[in-house]
Amino acid sequence: MKGKKIILGITGSIAAYKAAYLVRAFIKKGAEVQVVITPAGKEFITPVTLSALTGKPVISEFFTANDGTWHSHVDLGLWADAMVIAPATASTIGKMANGIADNMLITTYLSAKAPVFIAPAMDLDMFAHPTTQHNLDLLRSYGNHIIEPGVGELASHLEGKGRMEEPDKIVEVLERFLASRCDLAGKKIVVTAGPTYEKIDPVRFIGNYSSGKMGFALAEECAERGADVVLIAGPVSQKTVHRSIRRIDVESAREMYDVALSEYPTADAAIMCAAVADYAPEHYSDMKIKRSSDDMILRLRPNPDIAAALGKMKRDNQVLAGFALETDHEEEHALSKMKRKNLDFIVLNSLKDEGAGFRCDTNKVTILKSDGEQIPFDMKPKKEVAADIVSVLGKYLK
Ligand code: CTP
Repeated sequence: MKGKKIILGITGSIAAYKAAYLVRAFIKKGAEVQVVITPAGKEFITPVTLSALTGKPVISEFFTANDGTWHSHVDLGLWADAMVIAPATASTIGKMANGIADNMLITTYLSAKAPVFIAPAMDLDMFAHPTTQHNLDLLRSYGNHIIEPGVGELASHLEGKGRMEEPDKIVEVLERFLASRCDLAGKKIVVTAGPTYEKIDPVRFIGNYSSGKMGFALAEECAERGADVVLIAGPVSQKTVHRSIRRIDVESAREMYDVALSEYPTADAAIMCAAVADYAPEHYSDMKIKRSSDDMILRLRPNPDIAAALGKMKRDNQVLAGFALETDHEEEHALSKMKRKNLDFIVLNSLKDEGAGFRCDTNKVTILKSDGEQIPFDMKPKKEVAADIVSVLGKYLK
């Protein structure tokens, strides 16, 4: 927590009085706190208390009324290592989920690159309402962290779930998160994901069943651990969540190759997770090819090997990882690919394992390292597989 920069967003709930304790607890741990408060929040706790505790003026409006100073929500959003909204009312949660940027807090939230933690506080029925729950689900799906409210007596004297989590607990959540999740801070990591499509004519292509799930999970995991990620994605329906992922959509192997070669020289590592088509049609037909009763012969040309090209240009301080999806002689093929492409490690999955490979939500992998070490893993959800792979990568980057 020491030296971490935290934006504390305070909104109009009676639990705002606890924000003073929260500020104290953050500061005691050595964090720097900037309070951003909504107009309704100021009805519950005075900015003077908060600025006395943080040693910084409290920000509420886009402009400081008396001297016209403009507060940049963009700079603020980039400054923070974490953003905490405590207490978060149903109204603020709704605005955050739907991008209604009508106050300084929401504009700052939309500009923030750092992880965001939301501690709801409201009456039990408001919290249980499907609208609130739907908005919280939306916020979760965007990668925000919800600090669940506690159960107990509420300001309305009713009993139920809706009480903002205690300040000490919120600090604990942040502390744990920041300690474990920053091992890739300052690193640039390139990830390729999904299939490539090689055009035959305006309506047809050669492709494969890759869903991109594994590559996207890897990109999210790297970003959550603090890396700046460049995700080069083939045609997939996956969505990115984390704000530190710069996604570049491509279609063909050639396009993926061009982007990968231009991004890798400034990267610390690349994970080649895409299922790149090995061949592309020699000729592309501008017109839709018509049916005929003759056999049709499609002549294919080899595509460039992206991993091998990066392997050739790799410097000593760069890491390169690849995947091998095999159906037979798994280890032998994977080892030969690792050597041929100059990879530091290769992630082997076998199509013989049920629940592994394309389109599944799970995977079972073994990591083979160029120094001969082999690390087998159990069948797991792809998110957890990604965490295992990124942990191995993190050791190389230390
Ligand atoms: N790869 C790549 N560019 C290609 C082909 C593969 O970057 N044109 C990468 C993949 O992303 C993966 C690794 O190389 O990390 C191995 O891919 P794979 O398709 O298994 O290997 P190939 O070299 O294509 O061998 P084969 O298809 O014969 O198994």
